[in-house]
Amino acid sequence: MNSIRAKISGIEAYLPEYILTNDELATMVDTSDEWIMSRVGIKERRILKQNGLGTSFMGEQAVKKLLAATHTAPEEIDLLICATVSPDMLFPATANIISDKCGILNAWGYDINAGCCGFLYSFYTVANFIESGRYKKAILVCGERMSGMTDYQDRNTCPLFGDAAVAMLIEPTSDVSLGFKDAIMHVDGVGRHYLYQTAGGSLYPPTAETVEKRQHYIHQEGQQVFKYAVSRMADVSVQMMEKHNLKAEDIAYLIPHQANLRIIDATGRRMGLTNDKILINIEKFGNTAGTSIPLVLWDFKDKFKKGDNLIFSAFGAGFTWGSIFYTWAY
Ligand code: UT7
Repeated sequence: MNSIRAKISGIEAYLPEYILTNDELATMVDTSDEWIMSRVGIKERRILKQNGLGTSFMGEQAVKKLLAATHTAPEEIDLLICATVSPDMLFPATANIISDKCGILNAWGYDINAGCCGFLYSFYTVANFIESGRYKKAILVCGERMSGMTDYQDRNTCPLFGDAAVAMLIEPTSDVSLGFKDAIMHVDGVGRHYLYQTAGGSLYPPTAETVEKRQHYIHQEGQQVFKYAVSRMADVSVQMMEKHNLKAEDIAYLIPHQANLRIIDATGRRMGLTNDKILINIEKFGNTAGTSIPLVLWDFKDKFKKGDNLIFSAFGAGFTWGSIFYTWAY
């Protein structure tokens, strides 16, 4: 068994000030608070409005708060990974831009694009670097400016997404009863037919035509994605419980990706969890893609006690899906 585990030793968030409510959305497209609340569970979401600011701006703010809160000098950081589907630019990596803006000079790093599984995939990656013994102080930033690729003329998608960034300090611990325990990860490229942004990459570089056809926005076949999400997120969560012989009473909290309250409820039910063990903040922040799980962790961090067993589960574009078993370490 590994003698080093990776633990989260600090977590801070940046949320843009602007609150886009369901009532404001109803002035933009044919929708209503009643429809959005009953079908998805979102009341409002944060939006980064200012021109000239992207995901790296929010990541920078979260990382600066994290360094201050954990009394860490930027020079001490040896790795910085950014999980995002909304990078500032296709290149260079947003991880590199955030490092530069925060004075993180002794690290290397890169971006990970795993849709709404951004946190799961990147936390698994960082945990492996830490467990190798080669890295002592890593920062994982999950950040999304989803509003930049949301079509506010499309009622199918515009109520869903919000903007946010969360930064976590990840360090080794020799107490193997704590920290990152296990991950089960999946990918299935069939998802490319149901949830995608067509243009802007190498297949369809930007042209006047791609702009006119609104191909730079998120497109989602909601019902298809729902069908896959609801079964796979529950399956992988139950698989994690069975693998580690965890009963519902052994789990302090499920921290699910915040895409739809109905998917979250179905996952919690399959795991046999009571509602008080399922942490949710979708109503305040919407779907912040790969940032949603750490945003819940940050929001509820005062609730956690050292030794609490947590299950993180997500499903997203790709399709990607998976589950992580983690024991809170402070
Ligand atoms: O985070 C990454 C992974 N993503 C997900 O997990 C999302 C999975 N999918 C979902 O959560 C749901 O499919 C949505 C929330 C996206 C949509 O909910 P739904 O219950 O599947 O609705 P639907 O797309 O089947 O649409 C039902 C009806 C349609 O009207 P008709 O054809 O029945 O007349 C839509 O046009 O609701 C209509 N509709 C709306 N009505 C009011 C769709 N969007 C809206 C809206 N306001 N915003």
